[in-house]
Amino acid sequence: MVIAIDGPAASGKSSVARRLARKIGFDYVNSGAMYRAVTWELLREGIDPARSESVEAALARMSLDCGFSGEGEFFIRVNSELPEVELRESSVNSQVSEVSAIPAVRRLIGSRLHAVAAGRRVVMEGRDIGTAVFPETPHKFYLDATPEVRRRRRAAEGHNDSIEKRDRIDSTRRHAPLAVAPDANVIDTSHLTLEGVVEAITGILRHRGIGPA
Ligand code: CDP
Ligand code: CDP
Repeated sequence: MVIAIDGPAASGKSSVARRLARKIGFDYVNSGAMYRAVTWELLREGIDPARSESVEAALARMSLDCGFSGEGEFFIRVNSELPEVELRESSVNSQVSEVSAIPAVRRLIGSRLHAVAAGRRVVMEGRDIGTAVFPETPHKFYLDATPEVRRRRRAAEGHNDSIEKRDRIDSTRRHAPLAVAPDANVIDTSHLTLEGVVEAITGILRHRGIGPA
């Protein structure tokens, strides 16, 4: 079973998905971190993300795994490395949307996301989880917030991240763009606390018989 949480940058997906998963006893999967890990590895290899043939050649030799540690934490391993803080580097922020627009990258990560969710109950956050990766799940949430609020949230975290540019590329790309699934519950988080957003989602899930064990 997959609960999909999609939305633009700094709408609160990671914080909400993590808390929600803990609350209802599901595993938490961060699909954006997969796109970041592939981007980080390509940059480490000196590959220009604008050259999709070079990216495809690098993907063919790339080993990319994800799974859960003994403590149930989602992890990503790319060519034997386990990047964590590196995934938030400015170079990754500035290139990840370009890399994510490449169909071969989406195919590779999409297949890993299916494998990691198989036989589990997961809360998975991203951009296209409800529209493209698990369109059949009835549990879809789309988090949003005003651009001003989102910019302020990222700035408060001290990250150098041009979220407007990422949003633009993510929403206009040809394959699996960021979009609201027609059957998604849209939540404007601009004036809600994280706990308020989690409450709104658990309220809806409770009506469907999904709740704390
Ligand atoms: O947390 P934040 O919103 O800053 O970004 P993220 O979820 O870590 O995703 C980073 C980038 O990966 C996005 O800007 C998208 O380009 C890409 N992404 C995607 O294309 N599809 C997903 N399901 C998740 C992320
Ligand atoms: O994953 P995504 O980029 O959508 O957002 P996030 O990394 O979970 O949230 C960005 C920042 O906004 C974090 O520091 C959250 O604590 C904060 N936030 C908040 O203060 N209130 C909310 N309702 C949502 C997020």
